Amino acid sequence: MPPLKSVPGMRDLLPHALPTWRRLRGLAEDVAELRGYAPIETPILEPTELFSRAVGEGTDVVDKEMYTFTDAGGRSVTLRPEATASVTRAYFDAGLHQQPQPVRLYYWGPTFRYDRPQAGRYRQFFQFGVEAVGEADPGLDVEVIEMGRDWLDRGGVTGVSVELNSIGDATCRPAYREALREHFRPHIDAMGPVAQRRFELNPLRLLDSKDPAAEPVVSAAPSPVDFLCDACAEHYAAVKAGLDAVGVEYRENPRLVRGLDYYTRTAFEYWAEDLQGAQNALGGGGRYDGLAEVLGHPPTPAVGFAMGVDRAVLALERAGATVPAPPPQVYVIPAVVAARTRALDLAGALRRVGLRTVVGFGERSLKSHMRSAQKSGAPCVVIIGAQELAQGTAAVRDMVKGEQTEVNIELAVVAAAVVVERARLGS
Ligand code: HAM
Repeated sequence: MPPLKSVPGMRDLLPHALPTWRRLRGLAEDVAELRGYAPIETPILEPTELFSRAVGEGTDVVDKEMYTFTDAGGRSVTLRPEATASVTRAYFDAGLHQQPQPVRLYYWGPTFRYDRPQAGRYRQFFQFGVEAVGEADPGLDVEVIEMGRDWLDRGGVTGVSVELNSIGDATCRPAYREALREHFRPHIDAMGPVAQRRFELNPLRLLDSKDPAAEPVVSAAPSPVDFLCDACAEHYAAVKAGLDAVGVEYRENPRLVRGLDYYTRTAFEYWAEDLQGAQNALGGGGRYDGLAEVLGHPPTPAVGFAMGVDRAVLALERAGATVPAPPPQVYVIPAVVAARTRALDLAGALRRVGLRTVVGFGERSLKSHMRSAQKSGAPCVVIIGAQELAQGTAAVRDMVKGEQTEVNIELAVVAAAVVVERARLGS
């Protein structure tokens, strides 16, 4: 029988990588809570219609990338391909719309898209996201964009540009859509079935074309900012002025339309300059003032982002800026079988004073035990052999200095703590 492997595109996050992940998660909690955002966790499984309505038919996510199945009760359910729709659903389900507005929420968790796996693109990936629901003020757009930038900065992800655009709203979007159709109409027959479907359903998606042959037509297309109504133009100007005020640099990008249909007005992405092609988006977001209505609720303005944690980790790995796993501080070796219980006892005492302690179990030569101890990276090794057992002592070894002292077992914790502290201070 061939050994079983994981589902393609789904990865194990291994011990060497997880310290970096944990650090980024801690920083996510910090940047969100510093700005008054509260955590929320929504189910990983949602009714399929939530995403087909919110994200939109005609998007890659809904058309090709959803993990959808029928459950035992005959309902069509989908592994979440994003969380904005879920958070909006929860906001109304839980009556958060009756609380003082806006409601500021953040989340961290697995997200699923059936896309072609490659570096930076997985079928299960993690998002850190924030949603500020119930307020249209452009200050909130600035707060959110600045928060994403702060998370990347604190995490040490460098070489990032903030791409910014405004794609209008229900008032001005129809005229822009028509202008796009006018522009693309003479070329659409040559552009293939995907583009033709986009032309019909949502011509904004044509700006997102990855086809190099379409590039000249795409780059000559009209820009959404030239079609903004007065209210949208004013909002966009206020967002830019706010970003200037808080010192977030951005690049206006008239081609940025985002891959999901619910956006109105502000659209933004964080691009890593050194990640390749379509995988260079470390995160993205925008305003989605029309989403609540699409889900059957009263009009409710909102803005948010989601960061691709896998991609942020990848950027850190490429820059050699990952967090190493912390080694144990003390490695206890029961060098003879009879020393096992004493080693366990001592390890307990060491842990009670807060020292990360590993016991080297297994009947092996002292040399082999010492090799494992060395590899563990612990600055202090405590050996209990036959002689120590008989005398009620322990050999406490300073791995940095290569010095070893025999101490009474009662004093082993103190002696080990001194060695660990000395190594920490580098003295
Ligand atoms: P999105 O742009 O579809 O937006 O995804 C956000 C981020 O998730 C991307 O920029 C990327 O870093 C990461 N990502 C997406 N797909 C993959 C994948 N297959 N593998 C690895 N990482 C991936 C949203 O999801 C919106 N809900 C963001 C938002 C929140 N808008 C408003 N609020």
